[in-house]
Amino acid sequence: MDQERFVSSESLTEDEQHLTTLRPQLLKDYIGQAKAKNELSVYIQAALKRSEALDHVLLYGPPGLGKTTLALVIANELGVKIQTSSGPAIERPGDLLAILNELNAGDILFIDEIHRLPRIVEEVLYSAMEDYYVDIVIGQGSTSQPIHFELPPFTLIGATTRAGMLSQPLRDRFGIMAHMQYYEVEDLEMIVKRSAKVFQIAIDEQASHELAVRSRGTPRIANRMLRRVRDFAQVHGDGNIHIKDTRGALEVLQIDGLGLDPLDRKILTTMIEFYGGGPVGIATLAANIGEDIITLEDMYEPYLVQQGFIQRTPRGRMVTELTYRHLNYPLKDQ
Ligand code: ADE
Repeated sequence: MDQERFVSSESLTEDEQHLTTLRPQLLKDYIGQAKAKNELSVYIQAALKRSEALDHVLLYGPPGLGKTTLALVIANELGVKIQTSSGPAIERPGDLLAILNELNAGDILFIDEIHRLPRIVEEVLYSAMEDYYVDIVIGQGSTSQPIHFELPPFTLIGATTRAGMLSQPLRDRFGIMAHMQYYEVEDLEMIVKRSAKVFQIAIDEQASHELAVRSRGTPRIANRMLRRVRDFAQVHGDGNIHIKDTRGALEVLQIDGLGLDPLDRKILTTMIEFYGGGPVGIATLAANIGEDIITLEDMYEPYLVQQGFIQRTPRGRMVTELTYRHLNYPLKDQ
């Protein structure tokens, strides 16, 4: 069976290999996202009390905020098995059926990037989510036949960076929606310290604070930077992580004092130098910079907006006074 291809098929990246040890197992160890955690805790306990499958959950928000980690935690809390896949990996209804076929009552199917599910697969998912069955046609031409497949009650956890790109019928079938927020500095400090402990390396207060401030509210970025800083500390320093190692590593990585990376700064300087600070459309900007629109919209813009560097207006994106000051441009006359 070629199921390996789409169920957790890709080999783990460096980030993900470390995460298998960095990831918390229980809600109480999951740092931050208080609102999502508190709500989920109630729904999980209620489902356990009733011995029912948890209602379907949609986790949405910018990349790197721990959606996959939270899905694994939910599975652990419920004491059920979790099958993981992603929107683009499930190409045909048959692929979906193969995964659903592996589920027992109460188990979880996690679909990352669920907004990228092909439409034909999405349509099969509707009845699976609502009434736990699928009707699909197998074979082609004269040998094709419809089959009806009953499923055990299961929980779908979908993750997406863009809830707005889900079709209405799919969105409507999630009983629980959790909006993942950028993390507070204090939460990121705790995450960095916890990760350092897992790596068995000492990090001082100042260094963990600096990493937290410069990681764009994002645990994935904080953990990635921690690994690079650890490299510097072990090669150039005394093996423990101090502020000097942290500043040195971040300078090499070209991460500035507020955590902006070279592409962030390119976006902002392009807006100032080519478009007088805006307004400019995202497509125009993306073409000028040579990045695709999705990368800009999903990975870069949300943080720049949240931090007050960019404002979205009906006529396009505009930089703010903060941007001029942060990048040392003279303020435009009003
Ligand atoms: N590692 C990455 N994200 C985390 C989180 N939210 N809580 C604890 N550890 C984490």
